[in-house]
Amino acid sequence: MGRRKLAAGNWKMNGVKAALGEITALEAAHPAPDCDVLICPPATLVAAMADAAKVISVGGQDCHAAASGAHTGDIAAELLADAGASAVIVGHSERRADHGETDADVNAKAQAAWRAGLIAIICVGETEAQRDAGQALAVVGGQMAGSIPQGATGANTVIAYEPVWAIGTGKVPTLADIAQMHDHMRAVLGASHGAEADAVRFLYGGSVKPGNAAEIFAVSNVDGALVGGASLKAADFGGIVAAASEG
Ligand code: 13P
Repeated sequence: MGRRKLAAGNWKMNGVKAALGEITALEAAHPAPDCDVLICPPATLVAAMADAAKVISVGGQDCHAAASGAHTGDIAAELLADAGASAVIVGHSERRADHGETDADVNAKAQAAWRAGLIAIICVGETEAQRDAGQALAVVGGQMAGSIPQGATGANTVIAYEPVWAIGTGKVPTLADIAQMHDHMRAVLGASHGAEADAVRFLYGGSVKPGNAAEIFAVSNVDGALVGGASLKAADFGGIVAAASEG
């Protein structure tokens, strides 16, 4: 399909200024990766990382739906763009859980990202109880229907499938289960968005490490990864970037 792989790192609530050295080290080790590389640091580091990075793109981890205004502690997509971000994660399961974000909230945030010229990385994924109950495909399909606005294209949107039970646990679905979900997601997006669905990249996220990245990247309709813990250190993330470059 010609979709270029994307290795995306989500630093979550980690990363002081000294961690910018990881960016320098990653770029020194992978000066011309054959994939897109994105790091989403805490908002405090977006501007400094965007200034320091040459090859790596920088993203936010969340944005408010509004462009500006009286929303203490929140960050607008426009502010992330002004700081040098080119993307923003919306609807991560930790925000859905910690802040009660609904599909409608995520949908509004994705539109805010587009308004500011950012790529929206829209996250979906079932809980362990939902998977055990045989509801994983239906849950993710429902989240996609609610969270992905009309107008999503390969240029403005990336979808990240992150099963909640695989995040930070070392547990990963079987490759067959990842394939089944990603094939399902492609079909769901095709039904709602037509042929443009073929251009949208689908990332897998949840306990991706250098040791399992290559096999995951080889799975049907997996166009990259959204990586938490293993994105914090250049040596680990470099292994994932290398795997994405080969795939
Ligand atoms: P881990 O890679 O630490 O499991 O985190 C995945 C994630 O939540 C990325 O957004």
